[in-house]
Amino acid sequence: MIERISDEELNSLVQAMKNRYDLDFSNYEKKSFKRSIVRLMMKHKMESMLELWSRIIRDKQFFLDSIDDLLVNLTELFRNPDAWIMIRDKILPEFRSKSSLKIWHAGCSTGEEVYTMGIVLEEKRLLHKVEQLATDLSSTALATAIKGEYSLLILKQYMKPFLSFYPNKKMENFFDFSDKFAVIKDTYRKHVRFLNHNLVHDEMHERFDIIFCRNVMIYFDENLKVQVLKMFHECLKPGGTLVIGYYDIMPDAGKEIFDAFDVKTRIYKKK
Ligand SMILES: C[S@@+](CC[C@H](N)C(=O)[O-])C[C@H]1O[C@@H](n2cnc3c(N)ncnc32)[C@H](O)[C@@H]1O
Repeated sequence: MIERISDEELNSLVQAMKNRYDLDFSNYEKKSFKRSIVRLMMKHKMESMLELWSRIIRDKQFFLDSIDDLLVNLTELFRNPDAWIMIRDKILPEFRSKSSLKIWHAGCSTGEEVYTMGIVLEEKRLLHKVEQLATDLSSTALATAIKGEYSLLILKQYMKPFLSFYPNKKMENFFDFSDKFAVIKDTYRKHVRFLNHNLVHDEMHERFDIIFCRNVMIYFDENLKVQVLKMFHECLKPGGTLVIGYYDIMPDAGKEIFDAFDVKTRIYKKK
């Protein structure tokens, strides 16, 4: 189906969104962005790109509601547990003697990564001196992240990675449960600031010890990846840590400014 969308059609849709709503997807990786567009068209039973194009142009609410279909919000509690084990055992101990620790979750989606970090920080007795900044382009994803409320159905899907990190603990240690939902305990939420931030063009003037940007840059083309990596380099304190996703590939230009700390878990250090 994505073959049915030509590069010209894609470009004109992207241009229209940029001109009309000031949201720039021009450096998103073409193939996966076309897949997202197909998903959106199927959801609304649309036959042609022209139909989608004209609906987006005339209907701002439709566009706003569609952003989440265009961005992939997929996330998980304790996603890739071995990365969290590495962070707990090899990255966090250096902060034991420091008075503060600042962390940025860029592309935090619905918050699971942020609260996973909170849980790990508490285990290492570092939570009280932490400031976490969690940002995303999607306001709906951020709204869920701020609430920290997840359906029991979703939480059930997180059991496997959770148990592989904590074989002897229960979700009840970290969430308050009701009939259909579980809400993250306030202990983990009160250290987090949430912000709507677009990695493509918004600036960041704060400085961090650790930056997470997992499974976000996979949707960017090489130029945008390098641009964002340079911003992360700038925003990290000397020797700071960058954690990217399992399927993120560090471009050569990125290897010039970041040293691999552990390639398997995609953890890098600022050069
Ligand atoms: C696949 S999720 C990853 C969530 C989490 N980091 C994880 O690995 O589980 C990708 C997130 O990146 C966000 N995103 C995509 N483009 C972005 C941009 N230009 N600026 C900020 N966030 C963006 C999406 O809204 C989505 O929530």
